[in-house]
Amino acid sequence: MECKILDGKKVASEVRERIAVMVKEIRESGKVPPGLAVVLVGDNPASKVYVGQKEKACKEVGFESFLYHLPEATTQEELLNLVGQLNEDPNVHGILVQLPLPKHLNETEVIEAIRPEKDVDGFHPMNLGKLVAGLPCTVPCTPKGIMHLLEYYGIEIEGKNAVVVGRSNIVGKPVAHLLLQKNATVTICHSRTRNLEDITKEADILVVAAGRPHFITQHMVKKGAVVVDVGINRLESGLVGDVDFDGVRLRASWITPVPGGVGPMTIAMLLENTLEMYERFS
Ligand code: GUN
Repeated sequence: MECKILDGKKVASEVRERIAVMVKEIRESGKVPPGLAVVLVGDNPASKVYVGQKEKACKEVGFESFLYHLPEATTQEELLNLVGQLNEDPNVHGILVQLPLPKHLNETEVIEAIRPEKDVDGFHPMNLGKLVAGLPCTVPCTPKGIMHLLEYYGIEIEGKNAVVVGRSNIVGKPVAHLLLQKNATVTICHSRTRNLEDITKEADILVVAAGRPHFITQHMVKKGAVVVDVGINRLESGLVGDVDFDGVRLRASWITPVPGGVGPMTIAMLLENTLEMYERFS
């Protein structure tokens, strides 16, 4: 069986084109355009790359983009003050504080300071709680992008065994709930899971967000599985995912590449969330 590619780059560019058309109409009508504020604290090289990509994507679709690059030594109070100011700014419809924050800052407190109506990442407990309850909310970008990609390619979810490797608040937990809402039978695995491969081998849909390069190998995957690789690991040889693509593609029916799979979808969903918040709350 030939393994097909879940082409995140292509699907994301279609989303971005659709958003650009809508923003053009908004601008032509003379209204304030959607605005996204991105806050980066310190000089984490990966975060700088991600923030650069987000800013570029915003500009390309015609959003206003407000970048706040604060020094590593920023205090909790300074950061909370900035968030408070952005909460009140009528030109800002989405606020994104890039994670991880430097160690001396309290991430939870910062996330909770963002008004849920501007929490474009969907990380505020109010949004995460609504997600778990199955209520309308802002859905975190990477999980939303994964679901969009599966839907685009007509991957059936109902009744399937879905296994999620990774239990972060950003990816693992929310994607598990979204799969559950689509009536998959969901198992969440993590670093303490025993006999991981016995579980991954049962997956019809395998979502991997473990943060370990080439962690999932061919023998851990069921024949015909749909494999979604959320990992972005920077090795000397280049970017690699958490899945050993060359081996796993010999068994899977569908697979996301790295790069060009989930990554572009995350950015497209950030744009979609910003536009949704603009339409719902401004
Ligand atoms: N760090 C890694 N992924 C993300 C994300 O989606 N949003 C934010 N704010 N920080 C991240």
